[in-house]
Parts: sequence; C-alpha cells; structure tokens
Amino acid sequence: MSTLVIVGAQWGDEAKGKMVDVLGGEADIVVRYSGGNNAGHTVITDGKEYKFQLIPAGILHPNVTAILGGGMVVCPKGLLEELDRTKAQKGELGQLKISSAAHVVFPYHRVLDRLEEEHREHKIGTTSRGIGPAYQDKVARFGIRMGEFVRPERFEPRFREVLAFKNRLIKMFGEAPLDFDELYKEYSEYAERIRPFVTDIEVLVQDAVQDGKRVLFEGAQGTFLDLDSGTYPFVTSGHPTAGGAVIGTGVGPRNIDSVLGVCKAYTTRVGGGPFPTELLDSIGEQIREKGKEYGTVTGRGRRCGWLDLVLLKHSCRLNSINGLIVTRLDVLSGFETLKVCTGYILDGKKLDYVPTETSDFERVEPVYKDVPGWSQDLRSARSLKDLPKEARDYLDFMEEFTGTPIAILSIGPDREETMILRPEQIWGQESRIPVSVV
Ligand code: GDP
Ligand code: IMO
Ligand code: MG
Repeated sequence: MSTLVIVGAQWGDEAKGKMVDVLGGEADIVVRYSGGNNAGHTVITDGKEYKFQLIPAGILHPNVTAILGGGMVVCPKGLLEELDRTKAQKGELGQLKISSAAHVVFPYHRVLDRLEEEHREHKIGTTSRGIGPAYQDKVARFGIRMGEFVRPERFEPRFREVLAFKNRLIKMFGEAPLDFDELYKEYSEYAERIRPFVTDIEVLVQDAVQDGKRVLFEGAQGTFLDLDSGTYPFVTSGHPTAGGAVIGTGVGPRNIDSVLGVCKAYTTRVGGGPFPTELLDSIGEQIREKGKEYGTVTGRGRRCGWLDLVLLKHSCRLNSINGLIVTRLDVLSGFETLKVCTGYILDGKKLDYVPTETSDFERVEPVYKDVPGWSQDLRSARSLKDLPKEARDYLDFMEEFTGTPIAILSIGPDREETMILRPEQIWGQESRIPVSVV
C-alpha cells in the first residue's frame, strides 16, 4: 500500500494536521486536495506550534514534497505569508508545489463572502475567507486558475474581465468598487513569487503512485462539511470527503489504498447548522475549556457535544474508512458518566442513520447510551494498558458500533502523545511505523 487519505470524519478540527505530521515522515508526497485558508491545521512538535492554512502539514519533513492540489482554492497573499512564517520557524522545509488547476482567491471573493453572509437569513457562519465565492466562480467556469495567474499575458486580460463583472455586483450592494490598477500591481507581485511553484500535479502524483512511492492525501474540513455529503447548506463549498482526494489531485479511485478517518472522542462544530448531540450546558462549557475548543482561523468558540456514533458510522461508510484515528480522548477525563449517541428519534420513530434532508436532521432527538467515565489524566499514557478500563471500554464500543478498527489514538496535542495501535491499517503490512506496546 502506498497511498493514504487522512480525512476529517466529523465537522472539522479533528486534528488532521497533527496526524499528517505524525505520519508524514513516512511519505514521499503530501498533497492537500480541497478547501483553502478556511482550514487551520495545528502541529505541535519539538516545543513549537505551527499553524497551517494552505500548506500541507507534511512540509515540516524536509524529505517530503508538499503539494497544493487542483481541488483547492488558494489565496496568494495568505500562502506567501504562511510560507515566510513557516520558513522563519522551521528553517529547512520540504519542497513546495502548486497545481496549475488550483483556483485563485482574490479580494472580491472575500467581499462577496461577507455580502452573501449578511444577506442570509440562516447564517452559515463562514470563515469569511472568500471560499464559497471562489468555488462559485470555478463552477461557473469564470475563475482564474494558478496556471493563468502566473502567466502575465493571460492574467492581465482575465483579471480585467472578471473584476469588471464583480465590481458591478459589488456596486449593486451599494459598496465601493475595487481598483483594477492597484490590485493588479499587488497580485502581479504575488504571481511573480508564486510562479516557480506552479506546475502540472496530476502526472506527478500518478507517476509517484506507479513507482510505489508513498503519497499521503491531506484532507481539510470534515465529512459533514462536504458540499454533497454534508448538512447542506451549512457546509463548505468543496469536497472534504475521501472522494475529494480523487477529484482534487488526479489520482484514480482504484489507486487509493487506505483511508483513515480522524475523529474526536466527542463532537464539535464551528458555525451554523444541525448538531444533535450539542451540549448547551455546563458540560459543553467544560469540554470547550478543557479541550481549548476555539477555532484556529477565526478564534470562535467551537460548539461541543457528546460523541455521535450514528454520524461517525455514516462517515465510515461515506469515506470507506478502514481505520479510525481517535483524538482528544484526554479531554474526556473527569466525567463520572459519559453519553454516546447510538440512534435518533424523528417524529416518534427510531432512525439508525443520518437523514439526508437537513430540516429533518435539525429535528432529530439523540438516543443515548450511558457509559462509565474515568478520572485519571491520560496524557502520560503511551500504550493501551496505561489507560483505565473505562477508557478502553469506550474505545472498544466505538469500534464495535462503527465496525471500524482504531488504528491510532491521540491523547494530547504533541507528536509524542500518540499511540500507533494497528500499523497495518496505515501503509499496509510494510509500514515502518512501530506499533505502541498494547
Ligand atoms: P485540524 O483542523 O483537523 O488539523 O485540527 P485543528 O488543528 O484545527 O484542531 C485540533 C487541535 O487539537 C489543535 O490545537 C491540536 O494541537 C490539538 N490536539 C490534537 N490532538 C490532540 C489530543 O489528542 N488531545 C488534545 N487535548 N488536543 C489535541
Ligand atoms: P479544518 O481543516 C471547522 C466551516 C465554517 C462554516 C462552514 C463554511 O481546520 O478542519 P467556509 O468559510 O468554508 O465557506 O465556511 O464550514 N469550516 C470549518 N470548520 N474546521 C475547518 O477546517 C473548517 N473550514 C470551514 O465554520 O461553518
Ligand atoms: Mg482546524
């Protein structure tokens, strides 16, 4: 096995960044396949904290080629700032490459993101990074891609055409139009710096797969923020699900060997939309404070709730997850009893799946199973036998309910606070990652 997708199995912020860093050292290529700088991936290692929004977290390994795939929407200014910051922090980095097919996010996308959100009766609570409007242009076949952006003879007329159209829209909302000359100058300078990184990615990824090199596909956001599989319209505009790795990088579906779904031991969500197990009481507050559940990108408090196993099982099936990565089990220490959601009630009837219609999903009542909690701190545990029985039972129940083995367990933000339980689920039998003693 040489290809591995790391997918967010819930509503984002499951600790994909940490896991890509942990597993990235074994990869030759790490490629982000969807989203833009709405993502915030935190890596804590060697006493330093890195925050990635566009660059794959795998770039911290100097042997890795880190790629921004064609499924992404990329803010050039944000990208350059992130690159400068990471270089200053780390020094030697992996090689960076950007797909010619990735779409460019411009200031008018951010203006329109804000205007659309102001106009909406039911707010999505977007990250205001212009992500939705950039994907809208892509679908409308009006967007400017990286390949055009870095060719001045193509960029100038396209930017003039698109900006004139966007300014008509912006003026309709009573706002001041954006100045072509000023923006063109600024963005041409970014294009100049970005040009050396832009190339054809599909063939590079396909050749690597053919040569048996290890390719890790880094997901952003989470399964239920997927435009098609998520809680529409409270979703992002790209494809965070494992299928997005195929669309967003050019690898064929039969070349995906392993899909690991990252999930918290409980559930969180940022922004609007249904969340059946949300805790609006002091327990939710306790999880938020203990887990420091505040967004990396916007600083907003994350909504917190009990583990929803119906949702997680659905995610395992949508993404064909062969192994789970459970994170933040440490945050659940200190509760006498924990609840896990094992079903829903809708209009008096029991459901064992996630209804597709969002207005139905908004109305479901969770059915809970009470399970005993534990009081011990878990962060110093390095193998399953260091965990209290109640914590091990909790994990066993997750496996049993979802029918999916837990491949990795994370009990703290640091690289060291990780237990590799089933290495064969990661890169197959030939995995070089040592198993933690269980
Ligand atoms: P991502 O968007 O999926 O990469 O996740 P984020 O980086 O937005 O959020 C995950 C946060 O949890 C980060 O601040 C991590 O440092 C932290 N983290 C990762 N794993 C663990 C864990 O097992 N326990 C705790 N307490 N924090 C963790
Ligand atoms: P990572 O990769 C959590 C949410 C926003 C909002 C919705 C749409 O760090 O897990 P957008 O700006 O994409 O149009 O916002 O999606 N959202 C995320 N929530 N983690 C993320 O990324 C997210 N990226 C977008 O809060 O509800
Ligand atoms: Mg995040």
